[in-house]
Parts: sequence; C-alpha cells; structure tokens
Amino acid sequence: MRAVLKIGGSLLYDDDGQVRIDRLREYANSIKSLVNDGNLLVVVVGGGRPARVYISAARTLGADEAQCDWLGIKAARNNAELLGAALGDFAYPKVVDDYDELEVAVNLGKVVLLGGMVPGQSTNAVAAASAELIHADMLFNATNVDGVYDKNPEKPDAKKLESVTIFQLREILSDEGIKAGQYNLFDPVAIRIVERSQIPTVIFNGNNPENLKKVFNKEKIGTRITHGTKK
Ligand code: UTP
Repeated sequence: MRAVLKIGGSLLYDDDGQVRIDRLREYANSIKSLVNDGNLLVVVVGGGRPARVYISAARTLGADEAQCDWLGIKAARNNAELLGAALGDFAYPKVVDDYDELEVAVNLGKVVLLGGMVPGQSTNAVAAASAELIHADMLFNATNVDGVYDKNPEKPDAKKLESVTIFQLREILSDEGIKAGQYNLFDPVAIRIVERSQIPTVIFNGNNPENLKKVFNKEKIGTRITHGTKK
C-alpha cells in the first residue's frame, strides 16, 4: 500500500516536555516492519510541545502569525528529524521541505519524512497534500484522542464516531482555531484537500504504537472519513 502517516507532535512529548524516546523507537520499529511488508510510506510529523513553546514566546514578543507559523514549521521538521534518527537507513536522509523533492524521494524506496511546509495551515494539511501528490491509497492520522467525536470530547455525553462524512467533519470542527499553534484535529486546508481528492482517511489514537499496525491491517479502530454525497 502507498500511505501517508501523520504523527501528531503531541504524541512525542511527555507531560514534563521530555521527548518520549521509547515511543519514537516503537514507532520506528512499526514503520520498519510495515516497509518490510512492502508498504511505501511518507510520514509527516507534527510540532507538538516545542512548537507551542516557541509560538507562545514569539507571540508574547510581538511576532506576527507568519513568524509564529515558521517556528511551528521548524519545530515539526525537528521532530521529523528525530524519527529519522530512529529509522536510520530506512529513512530518506533528509527531512523533505518541498513537494518537488517529495515526488522524487518517494520513488527511492525509503521512508520520506516531512514536518511543516508553509504558513497558514497545520501539518495535517502537509499530510493531505502529500497523500494527494503521491496518490496514496490511505491517509492515516495518529493523534492523541480515539477519533472524531460528535461534540467536544471533554463533554460527558460526547460519542466517538466510527465514521464521519467530510461534510460532518467540517461542521464538527468549525469552531477550531485558525491561528499558529491552535489547530486541532484537521485544519481547513487539510479538509479541502481530503475532500477534493476523496482521500480515504482514518483518524486514530497513536498513544498505543500497536495501533499503527492495526490501522494498516484495516482493523476497525479510530474514525474513518467517508466521502458520501452531501445531505
Ligand atoms: P501542528 O499543529 O501541525 O503540530 O504544527 P501538531 O503537533 O500536529 O499538533 P498537535 O500537537 O498534534 O495538536 C504546529 C504549528 O506549526 C505551524 C502552525 O502554526 C501549527 O499550529 N505550521 C505547521 C504551519 O504554519 N504550516 C505547516 O505546514 C505546518
């Protein structure tokens, strides 16, 4: 399978802000075994805690949104580099920072790693654009919740959805922030790309690295985004 895997940056840091070294190793091992099974993988890594720390400091110092975004972009690239270190020879040797290079790199048989790309979006948009560009069969989005909920998951009556249409998803996420460091599950650019190319997408909990294999094996975890007609 040709697939894009997005790993939320929040999965890579513990509550004290330390890098979860063991988890990075576990992700790398799962990715290596997926490659050995014949899968072609592009992995996009999010900015996580370092992105938030830099963005909030820069904002306090008077930075504009674009400057804040660049700090998030670079933090995400650094996180991708960490995963690259754990992947060793399995990874294309540098974090890809433009889509032309992605098109070339993806055909070299290595895992291609990306972080952020351009201001005004999150790494979910990078993952969606990459999936579109490489004609991925699937886009897998590992995050720190079990999937998409019908309302704010902190509300006691919130229900996790097994599947959601792209139209419902847009509705559910309509209150999300659009400023640097404030995107949550999906940003508007990611939604538009997934919608226009009808990219089969699953959002799942990446806190358990075992879930990576499960989702590739088509086990029913997380929430699947479907592309039905608008109601
Ligand atoms: P993300 O919000 O994508 O990080 O990027 P993340 O780790 O996936 O988020 P969580 O922690 O899992 O929820 C961090 C910030 O970097 C900027 C945005 O400001 C974004 O909020 N960014 C990222 C861009 O401006 N452009 C990009 O292409 C990617």
